[in-house]
Amino acid sequence: MAELGAAVIGLGMMGERHGRIWAELPQTRLVAVYDIIPEKAQEMAAEYGCLAASSLEAAIDAAGVNIVSVCTDDQAHLEPCTVAAEAGKHVLVEKPLATDVADCDAIIAAAESNGVRLMVGHVVRFDPRYQVAKAAIDEGRVGDIVQIYGRRNNVLASGRRIGPRTSVAYFLGVHDLDIMRWYIGCEAVRVYAESCRKVLTEEGADDSIFTLLKYENDAVGCLETCWVVPEGQPNTLDARLEVVGTKGRVAVRAGDSEPLEVSGTERSWRPDIAYGPIYTGQQGGALKYQLEHFARCIIDDKEFLISAQDAKAAVVLARAIHQSLESGAPVKVSQ
Ligand SMILES: NC(=O)c1ccc[n+]([C@@H]2O[C@H](COP(=O)([O-])OP(=O)(O)OC[C@H]3O[C@@H](n4cnc5c(N)ncnc54)[C@H](O)[C@@H]3O)[C@@H](O)[C@H]2O)c1
Repeated sequence: MAELGAAVIGLGMMGERHGRIWAELPQTRLVAVYDIIPEKAQEMAAEYGCLAASSLEAAIDAAGVNIVSVCTDDQAHLEPCTVAAEAGKHVLVEKPLATDVADCDAIIAAAESNGVRLMVGHVVRFDPRYQVAKAAIDEGRVGDIVQIYGRRNNVLASGRRIGPRTSVAYFLGVHDLDIMRWYIGCEAVRVYAESCRKVLTEEGADDSIFTLLKYENDAVGCLETCWVVPEGQPNTLDARLEVVGTKGRVAVRAGDSEPLEVSGTERSWRPDIAYGPIYTGQQGGALKYQLEHFARCIIDDKEFLISAQDAKAAVVLARAIHQSLESGAPVKVSQ
């Protein structure tokens, strides 16, 4: 018997995946779904035999719901998170926690004051490659970190789809801003960013942002984020994380190093097998590990791998990136 009943709010690419995983995990079941586009809820309800709620409140208050996945657009996390917390439901919200630091504080306060658990879906923390790299750093194989480099580039379809609604720093950058901070174990004190806008002009979005970071322990960081890579690239994602320290180096490559390649007559592509692949008829990969971790930590009353304050720290850094872009100067950061 499933121990936790889930509602999913926002039924786009990620909401569909959350819903499927809640329906497939043995310890959870999908109870209700809601989207501002009612047809999306009706389609998912027909597929999973759950409630197509006609409002946010109807989904959250549906009988048997104890956990709520918030998978709305980056800038639309505040309301569903606070309504769920005030209704006494544990919240798993997709990254970024919000695109406004005040919204982050309001969501965290709502969870704390209502005694519910809050986790933010920083899925890269659940990617085995990034976890094993973290273990190598913690074992002392790198020594004192000198420099840390991150890259998260996506093909143009991603920039066209999401660009009008958020920025590449909030959509992609927060992943590595979090991982870099997790690895280095201290805060960034200064951020300087430069951007370029040549492709996503109609979307009103930056194509690419390069960011330099200076950390409390004197280490330097560099983060590359882009979502206009030509579609001809065989992998949707091209991500790197490289850490150099006084004793060693740890490097992670994702996307272009995937061992699976499918070729047609005109092009080859590398399907995602790390984050959300479907095999044995079920959704697998890091996203499943993440949702399973959230459910298990609630059932067993254990700490999450990522705290809400960690997720807020990534948003503070993304905000500093935009402040630097606006001012054209380095920005001091205080968490
Ligand atoms: N962890 C990851 O790897 C990953 C990948 C992609 C997206 N995301 C995050 O997931 C979230 C959703 O992204 P997506 O790609 O699924 O977007 P999407 O555009 O595919 O879906 C968003 C859905 O939310 C609905 N929606 C918007 N406002 C709403 C509201 N107030 N109430 C109810 N529904 C509402 C929209 O109608 C849409 O169906 C974003 O925060 C994004 O950054 C995470």
